[in-house]
Amino acid sequence: MPQSYYSGCNLLVVFVVLNGAWCLDTKEFQKTLPARLVWGVPGKDAELPCDITPALPNDNVTMIFWFKDNQGMPLYSLDARHGPISKASHLAMSDDLGSRSYFITEDESGKARLRIQNVNVNDEGLFRCRVDFVNSPTRNYQVNLTLVAQPSAPRVFDAEGREIKIGHSAGPFLEDRELFLSCQVTGGRPKPSLVWWFNGTILDSVIDSSRDSYTTVNQLVITSTPRYLKGAQIKCIASSSEAAGYISREIPLTVFLKPNKVKIVSPNDLLSISKSQNIRCETSGSYPPAKLTWLLDGRAIRNAVVTEEETESFTGSILSLNVAPDDDGKDLVCRADNPRFPGGHAEDRRQIHVAYPPRVSVELVGTQNPVRETTDVTLRCKTSATPPADSYSWYHNSHLIPHNTTAGILPEGDRLFLKNVKESFAGYYACSAKNIEGETYSSPMDLIVQFEPRCKKGYEAMRVGALPLETLAVQCHVDSVPEVSRFSWTYNTSKGVLPVHGGKIESRGDVSILRFTPGSDDVESLSCWASNSVGRQQRPCLFFITPAEAPESPKSCLVRNATNGEGLEVSCIAGKDGGLHQSFILEVFDVSAPADPQAGVTTLSDQGDLPPPKYRVLGERPLFYLHNLQPGKDYQVSVYAENAKGKSHPPVILPNVRIDNQLTSLFFNNEDVPSSNPAAEASPSSVNLTVIVVSLAAAAVVLIVSIISVAAILACRRPGVVRMRRRSSKPPEEFDLSEAGFGEGFHRRSAQYRASMYGECEERISRMIEGTHSKDKRLFSYLTARPRLQ
Ligand SMILES: *[C@@H]1O[C@H](CO)[C@@H](O)[C@H](O)[C@H]1NC(C)=O
Ligand SMILES: *[C@@H]1O[C@H](CO)[C@@H](O)[C@H](O)[C@H]1NC(C)=O
Ligand SMILES: *[C@@H]1O[C@H](CO)[C@@H](O)[C@H](O)[C@H]1NC(C)=O
Ligand SMILES: *[C@@H]1O[C@H](CO)[C@@H](O)[C@H](O)[C@H]1NC(C)=O
Ligand SMILES: *[C@@H]1O[C@H](CO)[C@@H](O)[C@H](O)[C@H]1NC(C)=O
Ligand SMILES: *[C@@H]1O[C@H](CO)[C@@H](O)[C@H](O)[C@H]1NC(C)=O
Repeated sequence: MPQSYYSGCNLLVVFVVLNGAWCLDTKEFQKTLPARLVWGVPGKDAELPCDITPALPNDNVTMIFWFKDNQGMPLYSLDARHGPISKASHLAMSDDLGSRSYFITEDESGKARLRIQNVNVNDEGLFRCRVDFVNSPTRNYQVNLTLVAQPSAPRVFDAEGREIKIGHSAGPFLEDRELFLSCQVTGGRPKPSLVWWFNGTILDSVIDSSRDSYTTVNQLVITSTPRYLKGAQIKCIASSSEAAGYISREIPLTVFLKPNKVKIVSPNDLLSISKSQNIRCETSGSYPPAKLTWLLDGRAIRNAVVTEEETESFTGSILSLNVAPDDDGKDLVCRADNPRFPGGHAEDRRQIHVAYPPRVSVELVGTQNPVRETTDVTLRCKTSATPPADSYSWYHNSHLIPHNTTAGILPEGDRLFLKNVKESFAGYYACSAKNIEGETYSSPMDLIVQFEPRCKKGYEAMRVGALPLETLAVQCHVDSVPEVSRFSWTYNTSKGVLPVHGGKIESRGDVSILRFTPGSDDVESLSCWASNSVGRQQRPCLFFITPAEAPESPKSCLVRNATNGEGLEVSCIAGKDGGLHQSFILEVFDVSAPADPQAGVTTLSDQGDLPPPKYRVLGERPLFYLHNLQPGKDYQVSVYAENAKGKSHPPVILPNVRIDNQLTSLFFNNEDVPSSNPAAEASPSSVNLTVIVVSLAAAAVVLIVSIISVAAILACRRPGVVRMRRRSSKPPEEFDLSEAGFGEGFHRRSAQYRASMYGECEERISRMIEGTHSKDKRLFSYLTARPRLQ
């Protein structure tokens, strides 16, 4: 490197002498010469290019000069006149700039250039390179060395123009919404570049400010903010020159994210109404974490237990849900809301299915209640249930209905087919339906079966006993649904059928009474018809007028312990009434009286020899209670019927009736003491007592069957003497008085009576049992209507 020092004037003289080309270095010439711009970075080396290639082949460079600005003195010179350029001698000005300059003629790049080390702002200026050749004309190059000036540090502003301070993050921005940031710098030479970067890729490199503006601006617009920018850093990088380096500004971003997944993860099982079930919902992807809420049928679920868990981006919620049958088919929604993100929600929904016991009702299919007899009726067990009911049962008046093809009663699943409906089909129908949640019974439906009137059973054809000139009240009893609207009667005489005029007929409900005096006409029979809204009775109830007769004797009489446990009970079956109203009479004879020791054999012919009855009981039915027989004594009981025509004959005799040490009735003194005054039967005490007895009897109904059975069976096993045991050995005084005069010593058995008891035994037992089972009411009426003392 040449370190010589030239004093300006001397050198100029030398150059002029050496080379006649000085005139080319005029100012005029320099102005027209184009200048190549070279940017220098302060503190770094700058290289000013100069083309030294000869225009002609085999020509050689002789001299090279570098001038700066308008200085006449070359800054740098190279003398190659005496040898190849590589051996040329270099001369530089000894000032600051000269000492940092060196001309590189050739290296691997092949380009000659003036290298200035560690440039500074004073080095700026217009440099000229002059090249002289052996043969070719001198050549000039101009180079404008300008130093790079970096812009200010980038500043970042948001959409509202607020600056993002250093160390702060920008945002919050919302996922899928616009993100706007503006980066700006001032100054910079050359005009700086301003680029938005993210993770090594350019987001935006377009300058948004005008070319000649002092401020350089790059506005970053991301129309739909992606999720991955959450927590990311983007950079705004400014640079005036690559060589000068970059000024970078990092901006952390805050981005709120929508929940991107929400799911009810529990399986969609059938929900039972009987217990609460846990249903789990999960959401993720939300920032900040989402809040989960539950909705059923569009409404928030209240009063439900919800368990929550939350991490930075995951939220779980367990709903403890109690469902009602009404909730079946409703939509259950799990909704995830980002509280910081307006509109940032997502939801999962499912239709829930609720298991509940059936809801049941009975309805008629294709017809209306009431129904007509002989029609076919279908009932449906209307059920709503989840899961569907899998079994049904049908009930008629609270009894399970079995399948009965012969009766035409066909329960088939939820249908009940009633073929050819009869009166007996009327009543309350209910059904039950069952699924895994339970069994439900419907409320009963009252099926009304309508039919035209008909004679009540047992009243179809009656014999009416006529007593001359006595008016009879002939009763016509019918069954009818709905109620009878009208009755009509006819006389059947030998001359034909005649209508009965209204005045003699009295009708109420299902009964019509015709007052009729035989003998006034030649009447052989009466017919009675009833009509209702369904129609007219098909077959009339018939009444045959016959001369009245005395009633038949009662049959099958039986003595047993009273069903209420007090005393004895005598029951018979009524015989024919002879066409007139009959009543029954029981007479008790004391045969243990020693008055007639010869009265040892009980025969019908004996009756006349007996003393007058100790007492007599009258009844509308052949059922009698004997409460006041004296223990230890033997009695004979006779039963007969009586009507207006006379007594039945012969009477039924029950010999050897006896009570052994049996406790007397609690009501003995009040009710069963033979009274001298027959009018006492209507006393209030007896009415009250009747009520009490009825109550007791009702309470004992359950026991009656077994008591009757045992009693009757014992009676069958041990025919003959019926012995009653007394628990009290001392009967009350009244008792003695009342039964004084009854005979003693009647211990023999009656073969006749024994035989009759055997014959009727089985039948009576079964009838009694049946009677107490199904005809409770009838039993009560027997008890209330029990005969009183005569
Ligand atoms: C240029 O230089 C080379 C070798 O140094 C020489 O051979 C040649 O003659 C020179 N050309 C002229 C025109 O001087
Ligand atoms: C050199 O270039 C810069 C930048 O283009 C310009 O501003 C300056 O005027 C130029 N200098 C001269 C002497 O042409
Ligand atoms: C950044 O880029 C690298 C390479 O392209 C990639 O693997 C990485 O996931 C990116 N990071 C983000 C946050 O996008
Ligand atoms: C079916 O009905 C008929 C007539 O009502 C009856 O006699 C019979 O006992 C019933 N059968 C069953 C199995 O109930
Ligand atoms: C009338 O009586 C006669 C003889 O008993 C009988 O044949 C006829 O059917 C009866 N008529 C009516 C309408 O009852
Ligand atoms: C009647 O009851 C008594 C005990 O109260 C008993 O000893 C007797 O055998 C019974 N008689 C009949 C016929 O059941």
